[in-house]
Amino acid sequence: MGFNKKILCIGAGYVGGPTMAVIAKKCPEYIINVVDINEKRIEQWNSEKLPIYEPGLLEIVKEARGKNLFFSTDIKQKIKESDIIFVSVNTPTKTFGEGAGMASDLQYWEKTAHEIVENSKSDKIIVEKSTLPVRTAEAMERILKSNSNGIKFEVISNPEFLAEGSAIKDLLDPDRVLIGSHLTDDGLKAASIIAGIYKHWVANEKIITTNLWSSELSKLIANAFLAQRISSVNSISALSEKTDADISEISRAIGTDSRIGSKFLNASIGFGGSCFKKDILNLVYIAKSYGLSEVAEYWKAVISMNEYQKKRFVSNMIKEMFNTIAGKKITLFGFAFKAETGDTRESPAIDISNYLLEERAFLSITDPQAIENAKDDLAKSEGKIIFEEDPYKASENSNAIAVLTEWNLYKDLDYNKIYKNMKKPAFIFDGRNILDHEKLFKIGFNVYPLGKRKLTHFK
Ligand code: NAD
Ligand code: UGA
Repeated sequence: MGFNKKILCIGAGYVGGPTMAVIAKKCPEYIINVVDINEKRIEQWNSEKLPIYEPGLLEIVKEARGKNLFFSTDIKQKIKESDIIFVSVNTPTKTFGEGAGMASDLQYWEKTAHEIVENSKSDKIIVEKSTLPVRTAEAMERILKSNSNGIKFEVISNPEFLAEGSAIKDLLDPDRVLIGSHLTDDGLKAASIIAGIYKHWVANEKIITTNLWSSELSKLIANAFLAQRISSVNSISALSEKTDADISEISRAIGTDSRIGSKFLNASIGFGGSCFKKDILNLVYIAKSYGLSEVAEYWKAVISMNEYQKKRFVSNMIKEMFNTIAGKKITLFGFAFKAETGDTRESPAIDISNYLLEERAFLSITDPQAIENAKDDLAKSEGKIIFEEDPYKASENSNAIAVLTEWNLYKDLDYNKIYKNMKKPAFIFDGRNILDHEKLFKIGFNVYPLGKRKLTHFK
């Protein structure tokens, strides 16, 4: 069968895999290749057990795989064959050299740009799908233009806004698709070709076109604004606990103002995930490098508040459990950075576990999807932690439960049974405010929600 567009995605991760699967489903007349240097990941994409857990993903992959969707490690050949290349490699925070701990590490991205130059035999559109510092396209163009065989590359920015756990839903019904290009004839033509892909299923008015730099910067700013809301509400959760106000009531009261809106106002143990922290740090670094120290300080506070919230949660546990948790068994309900994913990158559960272990607690960790990742994250504390998928077994003989991920399954457990098998007094710290606190209190638990009055049986 002849395909009328040959699309390649370099990077088969949380973004590349789901995004290309959805494009393949919606555009059967295109051939989509997804390549990666990680052989194991590619093997998993070609199997029944995909490398990431994402509701609805397996069905979509199975529908298109082998028809117009292919996963391989054949990077060079697939570059040669394609007209459009999406670059969706990782861009983590730099851990070395200049900008360490803040700037984006662009080594994977730069390697890709060189691979493209070295293996291209025809003109191509290169699409930045990864989240990148503003003006990265300029650097990419410099590398791409360094070829000597007259091939033309047009760079487009098309950042991804999907959230893990709802990736397929977000891709199928996005709030918007953002496409940034140079405002030249060639740039605008390339932008309209990329828009043409999304027009297969996204309404015209949801496709926003801008200049390249606005598009690159908008992605960082969207994440910064979302994270800022969480830090704002978390800062007020601390104040609510001091004043007998209730953070859920406050979220409801302010969220009904249509100018504020109701989403992303759930108090928590802090935001996690592979992007918020790294993207805000990157924003802080960019602001600093332009000499805008006040702007940098302003956004840095969003991160500081997040670190404070994790520490505050643990300090509170220690204080409420009679100022010591040494030798006590604490069961963590959830380890993933949010529900509906097995991803634990930058999960607040990692820092919280380490703080608890420093206080010499013994941990029991349960999660429906993230146990294997949790084992890797806490490998250096082997022997001080048990990992158990069954929450009933995990909580047996423990002094306390801390809810760290908002999995629905934790709402419906038999807490009478759990209470019976725990040490007394039994403590429950709800870091996501998902449980029925009154009911737990009546069972006998001492209950510590976030940003609300505690319910205890102590006189
Ligand atoms: P990821 O680590 O899951 O995937 C990146 C993949 O790129 C890895 O499999 C890696 O092996 C591969 N790779 C690295 N260098 C390569 C090279 N030279 N050639 C071929 N493959 C290479 O990362 P991710 O979560 O998919 O994120 C990718 C980008 O998308 C990041 O910039 C991130 O900020 C952004 N983003 C992520 C999300 C999310 O929810 N995870 C959402 C929106 C945007
Ligand atoms: C986030 C953005 O929501 C996506 O739009 C963006 O594309 C993505 O980052 C990215 O660039 O990687 P993601 O990190 O997958 O998506 O997940 P979110 O749903 O944003 O949750 C992030 C963290 O905030 C989680 O730890 C979550 O539990 C926490 N959170 C979220 C709260 O604590 N309270 C809330 O009200 C909402």
